[in-house]
Amino acid sequence: MDDITAAAATPVSEQSSYRGSNLISWSEAQSADFGLRPVLARHRLHQLDLFTDSALLDLLENYPRDRLQAFTMGTDVLNRKDWQPVDTAGVSGRDLLTAVGNGRLWFNILQVHLVDRRYRDLIDELYAELSEQCPTFGPLKKNGTLIISSPTALVYYHADAQPNLLWQVRGSKRVWVYPPGDKALVSQDLMEDIFASFADEEAPYEFEFDRKATTFDLMPGDVLSWSQNAPHRVTNLQGVNVSLSTVHETKDSDRRKLVYCANRLFRRSYRIPSRSTKETGALSYVKRLAYRACRRAGLVETPARRAYITNLRIDPNASNGFRLLGGGLVLTEFSKKDFTLKVNASGQVSVVQINHAS
Ligand SMILES: [Fe+2]
Repeated sequence: MDDITAAAATPVSEQSSYRGSNLISWSEAQSADFGLRPVLARHRLHQLDLFTDSALLDLLENYPRDRLQAFTMGTDVLNRKDWQPVDTAGVSGRDLLTAVGNGRLWFNILQVHLVDRRYRDLIDELYAELSEQCPTFGPLKKNGTLIISSPTALVYYHADAQPNLLWQVRGSKRVWVYPPGDKALVSQDLMEDIFASFADEEAPYEFEFDRKATTFDLMPGDVLSWSQNAPHRVTNLQGVNVSLSTVHETKDSDRRKLVYCANRLFRRSYRIPSRSTKETGALSYVKRLAYRACRRAGLVETPARRAYITNLRIDPNASNGFRLLGGGLVLTEFSKKDFTLKVNASGQVSVVQINHAS
């Protein structure tokens, strides 16, 4: 638990109360750019006691494992197939922290605002301040993922459907941000699949894309935001990284989602040559209306949920933070709520979705 323990020795000047003093303070230029182009600004989450080793240990010990994703990855940014789930069965919070400190892991602690009220209050406060400082910003929904990742971890090139902010709390990382809406960077078909949840966020990447990228080195107390759908990739630089990722939806982001989902449905299911990504005007309005009607009528296919199966399990004593399971594939703790594994007479493993409705 080298790095993460060492990082906790940093004096914590202020404890949990942030009432009466803003967590963010954006300049007029930063507020004006928010949502339109990348904005790097400051916050003071790293001064709170929510992110110390002992606070993270408390959180992880009891954190529901069906809301905790663990992954490992390779070192070649071109090879996104190396992104692999890792099981957490029987692994304590302390072992998770030790493994991430010593290994090559990425933990997504999902929906932290639903599990721990203190994070909900924190995210509420952040968005209240953002809305106050960026008067045109109107978030309809928001959610938070706490990310704990190893000193050398990376995240492959991808584009998220909804806008988000990355609040860096501990450790440092480099983020490459690419322009949104460039079909040479992410194809329109793939962006439609991402919006409709038929594809994960990951997209094919080539080194030459970097000519169009802006890079940001994030230190504790930095927050980075970028425009909706702007592709990005991340490489940690130093120390165990603790970051809060917040995702929000707005009227504008929902409108874009409807346009992409409508194009997908009408072009692929009904062979209507619908490709315009215009989000305003009568035609766009009618298209969105028609899509909504199709959705209400049950004409929009629901994407299958993805089961995470693996032959890797967290091991705090292993050099990469995980070990190979001798017995073959297992369903991760994260997927056990929705799936089971079935083994047939010849030993073949298949995944079966649990029907919660029955
Ligand atoms: Fe992302």
